[in-house]
Amino acid sequence: MRAIKNKKTHSSAAGRIKVSKNGPYLVSGGLSLDKAIIVTGRNGIPDKWGKGEKFRVQEGYALCRCGYSTNKPYCTGMHAVKRFDGTETASRKKYLEQAESTRGPAITLTDAISFCAIARYCEKAGSVWTLAEKGDKKSVKLAIREACDCPAGRLVAWDKKTGKPIEPKLKKSISLIEDPSEGASGPIWVKGGVAIQSSDGYVYEKRNRVTLCRCGKSLNKPFCDGTHLTVEFNDGDRRLKK
Ligand code: FES
Repeated sequence: MRAIKNKKTHSSAAGRIKVSKNGPYLVSGGLSLDKAIIVTGRNGIPDKWGKGEKFRVQEGYALCRCGYSTNKPYCTGMHAVKRFDGTETASRKKYLEQAESTRGPAITLTDAISFCAIARYCEKAGSVWTLAEKGDKKSVKLAIREACDCPAGRLVAWDKKTGKPIEPKLKKSISLIEDPSEGASGPIWVKGGVAIQSSDGYVYEKRNRVTLCRCGKSLNKPFCDGTHLTVEFNDGDRRLKK
């Protein structure tokens, strides 16, 4: 048999997430995995992102999406025991088809509420929508920062001069969000335009920021809809009140 020449393979740089039917997220391509902490200011509103633990780099791994794993964040097969219903209910319309716009003198803010993971950075230094409508430099800067801090990509600021989105530089990777001030573990933050494929083979729109449900209770699967706060999902993180 002739040896197959080593053509360009889909290796680490590719990175991909496959949503398995009623089971875990199957991650491939050696995507790095760590924790990202929502750090609040004195007023209790999220102010910045803190860095948490880094997990061992693996070429492929399965992340729990049912919320019942006994070894979070990885899948332990509990989805089968619990008969997890992971039916994907999210709209397949593109982000801009779902988004509403707030137009200011310098930027336009687009907002697709279905992606909201309730990370609350949009209120950091005043409402992002109000700030976007203002034209002064300070307000514009704050609006851009708040939009860029939104992990779910619900909010995007667009430069009116260039017509281009203003996006944070994110490398292809995955972070598990922890929200200690709310006493809850948050969603899986997928960064840098990683391809996410549904259980029926559909490839969702590739985006720089998006959050996937990991409590198992979102009504907008596979995306997070903030339900982890209602159910006080806890992955055992030491920062959360027990
Ligand atoms: S998806 Fe397998 S244990 Fe949660």
